Parts: sequence; C-alpha cells; structure tokens
Amino acid sequence: MSRFSEPQHPDFRRLNTSISFDVRLWPQDIAQSRAHARMLAAVGVVSEGDLRALLDGLDEVGRELAEGRFAVRPDDEDIHMAIERRLTEIAGPAGGRLQTARSRNDQEATGVALYTRAAAARAADAVGALMEALLARAQEHLAVALPGYTHLQRAQPVYLSHHLLAYFWMLSRDRARFGFAAAEAGRMPLGAGALAGVSFETDRRMVAAELGFAEVVPNSIDAVSNRDFVIDYLSAAATCATHLSRLGSELVIWSSEEFRFCELPDAWSSGSSIMPQKKNPDAAELLRAKAPRIAAHLSAMHGVMHALPLTYNKDMQEDKEHLFDAVDTLELCLAAARGMIEGVRFDVERMREAASDEMIAATDIADLLVGEGVPFREAHGIVAGLVRLAVESGRTLSQLAPGELEQAAGEAFAGAEGLARYRQALSQSAWLESKVSEGGTALARVREQIALAEGMVGEGGGAAAGR
Ligand code: ARG
Repeated sequence: MSRFSEPQHPDFRRLNTSISFDVRLWPQDIAQSRAHARMLAAVGVVSEGDLRALLDGLDEVGRELAEGRFAVRPDDEDIHMAIERRLTEIAGPAGGRLQTARSRNDQEATGVALYTRAAAARAADAVGALMEALLARAQEHLAVALPGYTHLQRAQPVYLSHHLLAYFWMLSRDRARFGFAAAEAGRMPLGAGALAGVSFETDRRMVAAELGFAEVVPNSIDAVSNRDFVIDYLSAAATCATHLSRLGSELVIWSSEEFRFCELPDAWSSGSSIMPQKKNPDAAELLRAKAPRIAAHLSAMHGVMHALPLTYNKDMQEDKEHLFDAVDTLELCLAAARGMIEGVRFDVERMREAASDEMIAATDIADLLVGEGVPFREAHGIVAGLVRLAVESGRTLSQLAPGELEQAAGEAFAGAEGLARYRQALSQSAWLESKVSEGGTALARVREQIALAEGMVGEGGGAAAGR
C-alpha cells in the first residue's frame, strides 16, 4: 500500500534520487546493518533464524556490490533503500525486519559519519607521510643557503632546511585538524530513529562497539540533525589544500628557467604538445588550482546547513557530493605533493649563488649599527643610503670605499676595525648564522627544530580516532 495515488514525476525522481552518488556508502551501510541486526537479535527483537537470514543476505548483497553485479532499479532512491530492497529479495520476510528500530535518518547520519571518520584518518596519515618527506629533504639539505622572500623580492637568506620545515609545521596543524574531524565523526548517531529515539530497549553501545565508534550521540535530535563532522573534515581539507597550493606555487616558481632552484621529477611533470624543450609543472600548478575547489565545497556545506530547522531535512542529502569530491581531490593532491617533494632535485649551487647577493645582508648591516648604539630607524636610513650608492654606481656593498662608508655611517664603520666589522657582516654565512633567536635560521636553531619535528612524525596527530 502507498498513500500516493499518482506516480512521481520523472524530473522529481531525478532531482530527489541520490543513488548515483551515495552508492559509494555501501560498505558503511552493510556494516551498520550487520551490527544493527546482531543487536536486534541480542535484545530479542528478531529471532536467531531471522538474524542468520539477514547476515547471509547482507553478505550476498555486499558481494554483488563489490563485484559490480548489483542491479540498481528505478525505484531505488538511495543506497539504503536499494540494499534493503535487494536484501528482502534474497532473505525473504526476514529482510523486512531489518528496519525495526531504525530510520533512514539515523542510518544516513551513521553512514556519513563512518565514511568521514575513515577519510579523516586517511588524510591524517597522508599528511603525516608528506611531513616525513619534508623532514627527510630538510635533513638532506641542512646547510644549503637560499634567499628568503617577502613580496617575492629577495629579503633575507635562510637555509633550505628551514624553509622546508615551515611546510612541515603547517602540515602538522592540518594533521591535528584531521584528527579532530575524525574524533567528531567518532560518536554514533544510530539508535536515534527518525528523531525521538525508538520504542525498543535497544543496545546502542553494542552497535557502537562493533562499528568502532568511541561513543554514542547522547541526544537523538542532535544525532539526526548533525553534520558538523562533514564541515570539520571540509574545513581541515580546505586549509590543508591551501597549504598545498602555496607549496605548489613555490615549486612552479622555483622550477622556472628564471629561478632554476629545482627540477621536478619526470613522473610528476608533463611535456608540451608543441614545444619539445618544455617540462611543465602541471602537478604543482594543480595543487594551486584544486585548493579553491575544496574551499568551495566547505562554503557550499555551510550553505546547505545554514538556518535548517531541526532535525533531518532533505537538504542534508547535499552533504555527500561535496564531501566525496573534497576527499578525492585532497587525496590526489596529497599524493602529488609527496611525490614531488620526494623526487624534486634542488639545485643547491643556484640557490647559494642567489643567496650570495649581498643586498640581502642589508638588515644585518643595520643591526651592526644598532650594536654601535645607532637607533634602528636611523640605521635603516643609513643602510638604505649605502644600498642606493652601490646600486647607482653599479657596485656591490663590499665594493664601497672606506671613505664612503665613513661618510654615511660615521664612527661605526671608520678605521680598520669598523671596516672589518662591515666586511665580516657581508660574508655569507654570517648573515645566516646571525639569526640565533629561537626558531631562527642559524644552524643550531634549525637543528633544534629538526629534533622537535623528529619527535612529532610518529605521533599520528590523534587520527587513531578514525580507525
Ligand atoms: N538519501 C537521503 C540522504 O542522503 C537519506 C535519508 C533520507 N531520509 C528521509 N527521511 N528521507 O540524506
């Protein structure tokens, strides 16, 4: 029987149905149905015979889905209805008992939570692997100098290890965010029924234990209304993808003929269809361009949930395509970033050469004047004058004559001692090794960072919650 006298309009059917994309939740749906059936038998709501029929039937449906033999019917609105329909064909009347004490509302929330939990754990692992790759490359290039940039203008030299570790720390925060998302998806909605709970003495904790949930959602209304864990995953993914876009951008710039700081591995580069000499950093470019796509999924999901009255609303069906595409996109981006970092060849000579541009020691010369009692603002002006003198006369800072130095800076750079101080500050390793503050680029400080990073790589960032 049905309360409807008219068939659904075909366009409504197309609008309303979700099977084309939610079919990917079938392993989560089968797993929760198995746990639910066992619990129903344990509390005496279904017989042992029916339980056997349900479990065998679910096994068979799972095999059909895994082997691509499952035939979707036009009436299969979503994966839950499709599996239940097929189960009843196989198991007979017992199949009709599976939906006892359950609604598609708590079932849907549970499937998405299981999926999100696993995806967040995989993301945390993939981020961890990228962190390890960055750390290994940093250890390998501990004392290679290159210019650090602001506004993409040479600013102050740093060690390559220090620069690579900056990404390590960004990613360590991403990993923690994915750990948080996994934990948020770690409370089980199932057992909430449609919204108010169910009229059977069910054992939610038994189901949660079988499905690996740490807890059950304590409020049935919240259980079926909540998709925060999807937003938490998307938020972590959007931030992570933004980080990868910056890494991608630097790889694009560094691998250009103008910079030549690195050469990307062939396995992650493309050729040009017309210019035989070209090696294009397509993967690095796509790291840049995929990030806004993931951020858009986050934004769309905020839109889906915005102002929704409690509890379940069909709007929430729109969570899945945003989530699924973000998961697929992020996982590919993380694999590409790791592949490029593991295989990139750094041109350490080119980097050193660029870092030997004396102009980037200007701050150090100013600091030297500060050491002689000159206020920093004034020192900044004096050095700006020296830089201008050098640039205008086509000389380097160390080619300036002693008289010119004395005229600009007075006592500080006068005489043999002042001149020696000035020249010493202009020797390359001095610029780097002068940055001795905690977290700075001096080698002793980079080594401290490496020790901290080594302590972190094995930690996993709380992602264990997802497994
Ligand atoms: N396909 C639905 C979704 O993705 C499943 C839940 C449907 N529940 C309902 N009461 N219509 O959200």
